Amino acid sequence: MTASTVRVKSPRDLRTERRPRTHSCWDHLVAAPLWPLHGANLGTLLRTCDAVGACLAVPKLPWVPDALARGNTLRKPACVHWTGDQLTWLSRQHARKDTSVVGAELADGAVRLADLPAARTRTVLVLGHERDGIPPEAVELLDLAVEIPMIGTGASLNVAVAGSLVLYRLAGLL
Ligand SMILES: C[S@@+](CC[C@H](N)C(=O)[O-])C[C@H]1O[C@@H](n2cnc3c(N)ncnc32)[C@H](O)[C@@H]1O
Repeated sequence: MTASTVRVKSPRDLRTERRPRTHSCWDHLVAAPLWPLHGANLGTLLRTCDAVGACLAVPKLPWVPDALARGNTLRKPACVHWTGDQLTWLSRQHARKDTSVVGAELADGAVRLADLPAARTRTVLVLGHERDGIPPEAVELLDLAVEIPMIGTGASLNVAVAGSLVLYRLAGLL
């Protein structure tokens, strides 16, 4: 493609390409930032969920509904599930025969992002605590871990960036 063939889409083009309404709860792909610390990251993840057709599952900590309302810059709200106690919710997901529980984490034995296939069954993507990662009791409930390779000096990626990359991959859009 040469530069002359590139035309930036107008807001009107984008409106006609997008859904007229928010997607209903397909409950096929679920992003689960279960130990959130920063509201801005939840807002970013909510936008990615809308973009890829996923739901967001998050504990209803006192500050979370407000952070989602502020962070949600979409005109129509994306699908949010309240988890209640994180480990109880995750155990229930793990026990479901129709569900694969994938954890985004820097972990031995993790598959590299480029080798992660798109989700063919209902998939829950667990994202770790923004400082401490996925706690050991929750790691035991994962079916698979996925790691995004890094070559810089930083120890890890921002949780919303990591979650968005893996969600795109699981949705088969990357
Ligand atoms: C800031 S990181 C915490 C990372 C780390 N385990 C720790 O204890 O410092 C928060 C979360 O973002 C996700 N994450 C960050 N970088 C990642 C990477 N390179 N690959 C996969 N997940 C990543 C993971 O879900 C991780 O638990």
